[in-house]
Amino acid sequence: MKLAVLAGDGIGPEIVAQAVRVLEALKADGLPIELEYGLIGGCAVDATGEPYPEATHRLASQADAILLGAVGGPKYDALPRHQRPERGLLSIRKELNLFANLRPAILYPELASASSLKYDVVAGLDILIVRELTGDIYFGEPRGIDIRDGHRVGFNTMIYSESEILRIAHVAFQAARKRQKKLCSIDKMNVLECTQLWRDIVTEVAKDYPDVTISHMLVDNAAMQLVRNPKQFDVMVTGNMFGDILSDEASMLTGSIGMLPSASLDQNNKGLYEPIHGSAPDIAGKDLANPLATILSVAMMLRYTFNHEESAYRIEQAIRKVLASGLRTKDIAEPNMPVVGTKAMGDAVLSLL
Ligand code: IPM
Ligand code: MG
Repeated sequence: MKLAVLAGDGIGPEIVAQAVRVLEALKADGLPIELEYGLIGGCAVDATGEPYPEATHRLASQADAILLGAVGGPKYDALPRHQRPERGLLSIRKELNLFANLRPAILYPELASASSLKYDVVAGLDILIVRELTGDIYFGEPRGIDIRDGHRVGFNTMIYSESEILRIAHVAFQAARKRQKKLCSIDKMNVLECTQLWRDIVTEVAKDYPDVTISHMLVDNAAMQLVRNPKQFDVMVTGNMFGDILSDEASMLTGSIGMLPSASLDQNNKGLYEPIHGSAPDIAGKDLANPLATILSVAMMLRYTFNHEESAYRIEQAIRKVLASGLRTKDIAEPNMPVVGTKAMGDAVLSLL
C-alpha cells in the first residue's frame, strides 16, 4: 500500500498529521503501508514556484493512493492563475485521470442538532454525490478573458464527450447498486445542449442496470429539493460544476463540513482522498481544526483503493464511538459541550481504534 501524503496549506498539515497517526497504527497492526511525502498548493509554490511540481507528479503517479489535506490561502490570492494553489488540485485530478469524485453526505445521529435543517428532515440522511471531476466547464476550451469590439469579454466552454459521460454514469450506477438502488442524474437540459447529451447518455446506460431506479432532475430543482426533502435521494450523479455546488450544499445538511471525506478515483480505483473542506487559513496552526474528515478519508481509501473493508470499518467505528462519548472539536460542538483540539481528537480516535 504505497501512499503519497500531500498535506498542503492552512490546516492541511495539522489534520493530515492525525490521519497519518491512524495509518501508522494500522501499519503497526500489520497493514503493509508505506508513506512518502510531497508538496502541493501554496507550499509547493513557495518551494518551487509551481503548485503541482514535477516531483509531486512523479510521487503521486507511482503511489497507489494519495492522501491530501487542503490547499490555498490569502497569501496566494494575487498570484497569476497558473500559480494558484487551486491549480495544483485541478492539475493532479486531471493528470492522474481521477474522473470519479465520490462525496458522501452522512448525518451522524450525535451531530443532528448541528444541522441548520429540522431534525426530522435530516435524521438518517445518507446521500452519495458522484461528481464528474476532469471535464465540463472546469477544463473546456476555449476559455479566457479577451477584448472584443473594444469591450472585455470573459468566456468558458461547457463540454462533455460521450465517453466521459459513459464512464461516470457507470460508476454512479454501480455505486447505487451497492446502496438503495436509486440514482438521480442532475442536468440543465432545458437550457444547455451539453447536458441534454448527458441526460440522453445516462438514459441509455440505465438499460444496463434494470435493478437501479433512475430519475432525472434539473439542477435548480435539485438544489431546492436538497433542502426541502434531502432524504428522497440515494445516489446523485452530475457534472463537474453542478457537482461542486451541490456537494457543498449537501455537506451542510449534515451540519458539519468538517466531517465529510471524499474519494477521487480513476478507472482502476487508484484514488486521491481528501476532506471536502478547505484550508481554513483563519484557524491554521491553532490546534482548532477537526481532523475527522481527513481520518474518514483514510477509511474511504482503505475501502475503495485497497479493498480493506475491515480496516475502513474499524476507523469509522472508532469515530462513531468518539462522537458518542461526547468529544467535539469546535466546529461540531453544541453550546454546553467541552471542546477539544485537533491533536486531542486524534488521540481519542487512536485510543478507540
Ligand atoms: C472542491 C473545491 C475545488 C473545486 C476548488 C478548490 C478548485 O471547491 O474540491 O470542491 O472547485 O473543485
Ligand atoms: Mg467545491
